[in-house]
Amino acid sequence: MKVKNICCIGAGYVGGPTMAVIADKCPSIRVEVVDIDKERIKKWNDKDLRNLPIFEPDLAEIVERCRGINLFFSNLVKEKIKHADMIFISVNTPTKKKGLGAGKASDLRWVEESARQVAKFSNGHTIVVEKSTLPVRTAEVIQGILKSAELDKDRNGISFDVLSNPEFLAEGTAIKDLEKPDRVLIGGENIEAMDALSEIYSKWVPKEKILFTNIWSSELAKLTANAFLAQRISSINSIAAICEATGADVREVSRAIGTDSRIGSKFLDSGPGFGGSCFKKDILNLVYLAEYFGLNDVANFWESVVNLNNWHQKRISELIVKKLFGTVTGKKIVVLGFAFKGNTNDTRESAAIQICKDLLDEGAEILIHDPKVSELQIEKDLKMKPIRESEDSYENKLFNKKGSWKFSKNLNIFDNAHAVLMLTEWDEYKKIDWVDVSNKMVDQAWVFDSRSIIEPRKLKNVNVNLWRVGDGTKSNNNSLKF
Ligand SMILES: NC(=O)c1ccc[n+]([C@@H]2O[C@H](COP(=O)([O-])OP(=O)(O)OC[C@H]3O[C@@H](n4cnc5c(N)ncnc54)[C@H](O)[C@@H]3O)[C@@H](O)[C@H]2O)c1
Repeated sequence: MKVKNICCIGAGYVGGPTMAVIADKCPSIRVEVVDIDKERIKKWNDKDLRNLPIFEPDLAEIVERCRGINLFFSNLVKEKIKHADMIFISVNTPTKKKGLGAGKASDLRWVEESARQVAKFSNGHTIVVEKSTLPVRTAEVIQGILKSAELDKDRNGISFDVLSNPEFLAEGTAIKDLEKPDRVLIGGENIEAMDALSEIYSKWVPKEKILFTNIWSSELAKLTANAFLAQRISSINSIAAICEATGADVREVSRAIGTDSRIGSKFLDSGPGFGGSCFKKDILNLVYLAEYFGLNDVANFWESVVNLNNWHQKRISELIVKKLFGTVTGKKIVVLGFAFKGNTNDTRESAAIQICKDLLDEGAEILIHDPKVSELQIEKDLKMKPIRESEDSYENKLFNKKGSWKFSKNLNIFDNAHAVLMLTEWDEYKKIDWVDVSNKMVDQAWVFDSRSIIEPRKLKNVNVNLWRVGDGTKSNNNSLKF
């Protein structure tokens, strides 16, 4: 079967970039990306490519090449489902907030709603592809919904195949990951449907990198991949804490163990703790699955990865307070980076959220900079309005028990700062002139580098204290001036 019309339900961080790359690599396929979010679609169609709803390196260039030719964004869910012979479900699957499985299980209401829309509006034979990350056996639920449409006597001759095709892209490198994937995973039962999807990918992915599995293995492989990656981050962050206590340096430990080919060198950087929309949610999903099957020790093992991450983030905010003489009330702290990692505007589960909230609870005055995250997004994440110039009075500082925050679009923000906290590894932070910055900060100021961006040797004559994550060497612990 040759696919000519694709519809993707969900124009988010996965749906948007994935479909852009398919459209770019397969000019003969018409790709329609639909979403119920009007504002998001408006941004995908914005003439000014700087206003796309998602920032990813090289994404704007692809959208410019394909949009209006074979790549379209709209809110026309019903119409575009009707004409598609392959439909990707790429909607959000966050952790359930209430009810059965709250706090761990995935909330599948958007997936279910999408499946119902497909059941209602599709025509002829349609291949339905799970692109969202889903709990094992979700395909069964989707198949159940679609089956009832197949059995409907008024809907002549409609039929479906369901495939699992989880997405392994990482935000910040999404286009690179999509163009040169380590593998493409296709889980299913019907080999013709699997071949049809494989045919699309084979336009740019070598055949040997396209793996066929059964549908349940495919669903579980995605959860497992994220659980393993997150586990590595929690592992190295736990070692960072030991380094700080013992005089070792986590960068040296990582280098030493990374050369072991059984371990490998990737994902061994200690940082402020993992964020993003996926790791925590997917591990908790795995925990829920294990608990459901009575595998409580397995559940505890994976849950400890999330617990370690929460502890690590808390550890950083507590450490800041301790280093600043036990109090940050009324002290200006510059936060560099709010996105959960560099090269993305995504702040979901960003370590910056919890760390900033903790510092605000302690009464700090935070000045936040991020090149791609908006002030409005930060306000939503912190659940607190920024302070305006008119409110920025001495009395306010004195009597406002909770701290305050402001946003800055530029880096001219270091005057009288008591501390700088580096949370996201944006390239522009690597170019900061610390001699200049230190002259602007108060005496005995601190720089907290949770991303290992700053090379201590370069700060030799700079009059600030430096703390780097996982650095237990003398310079860090003894608060020596560099
Ligand atoms: N973000 C990542 O890095 C990443 C990587 C791999 C896999 N995933 C998985 O992919 C899925 C999507 O993630 P995301 O980050 O793109 O989410 P997202 O929240 O950015 O996008 C989901 C979009 O789906 C839309 N939507 C929801 N219900 C809809 C419906 N019934 N009809 C039309 N549109 C609907 C929402 O409005 C939203 O724009 C999740 O399951 C996630 O776990 C994400």
